[in-house]
Amino acid sequence: MKLSKKMQNVKVMENNERLFSCPICSSEMMLEDQVRFVCTNGHSFDLAKSGYVNLAPQAHTTKYDKTLFEARTAVMSSGFFEPIIHKLVEQVIQQIGHVDNPVILDAGCGEGTHLSMMHAQLPGEAVGIGIDLAKEGIVTASKMYPGFIWSVADLAAMPFRDEQIDVILNVLSPANFAEFTRLLKPGGAVVKVVPESGYLKELREVFYEGKPQKEESDPVGRFAEHFDSVQSERVTYTFELPEGLLSPLIHMTPLAWGAGVEKIEEALRMGIREITIDLRVIWGIRR
Ligand SMILES: C[S@@+](CC[C@H](N)C(=O)[O-])C[C@H]1O[C@@H](n2cnc3c(N)ncnc32)[C@H](O)[C@@H]1O
Ligand SMILES: [Zn+2]
Repeated sequence: MKLSKKMQNVKVMENNERLFSCPICSSEMMLEDQVRFVCTNGHSFDLAKSGYVNLAPQAHTTKYDKTLFEARTAVMSSGFFEPIIHKLVEQVIQQIGHVDNPVILDAGCGEGTHLSMMHAQLPGEAVGIGIDLAKEGIVTASKMYPGFIWSVADLAAMPFRDEQIDVILNVLSPANFAEFTRLLKPGGAVVKVVPESGYLKELREVFYEGKPQKEESDPVGRFAEHFDSVQSERVTYTFELPEGLLSPLIHMTPLAWGAGVEKIEEALRMGIREITIDLRVIWGIRR
């Protein structure tokens, strides 16, 4: 009999309970009766209905809400990110192609589409873990993509034991390199994606009228302070927006948070049809 979506998630957690550590006291955790994680000091965390677990040390409200994640799913499922996913898969296979049943963790996975798309293209039986502090993202991911470990958690203090992960993905999300290093197995890799100057430039031009936006300076240099054999590649292309995708595109990005309603309406009226994707993929090995 085919397992329910929830049970597909629960099974992966059960088979991999050795990976987890308590977010309060860092001790080992066990999945009890397939309904809750309990640590050796008695801290207990119930699984949610859709089969994810909230292991954030405290409740967080973030600006990443349900509407944003629905918009992100619509855009990400349209092929918008395909060349990036292709590059990520290529890199991950290069890093862990020799490992049986590798463990891949997406730190700041949002609504999980990238992890799910990549996982489908990896050979063998990789274990996929997606964590995000925004509960709405994890709720969506756990319902849409069964067969993964989905957890609400802080990427700066992840509820997993040391040296258990083969690859950490970190796509357009903040990073914590010390925490990534703690979690990676020796020889494990990080694959990170950061925006370049042209990313969604058609929206920036309307929202901010060409005023420069604050951007992280030298992300590759900062990455190289923490990892070995660092390489990066800029991936730039134009994507033709299918009918009906402009509104989700505008609403999927934090770019819209700083723009007024009028600017958002103006962008919608303009009927932008082509959008620039300009990202850098950076990868390196644990020191
Ligand atoms: C721009 S979104 C990217 C989401 C996804 N990686 C994607 O590319 O669609 C940034 C994500 O980082 C998450 N995030 C920010 N700070 C975080 C933290 N400390 N721990 C976990 N996730 C965090 C946000 O909740 C959000 O989902
Ligand atoms: Zn505990």
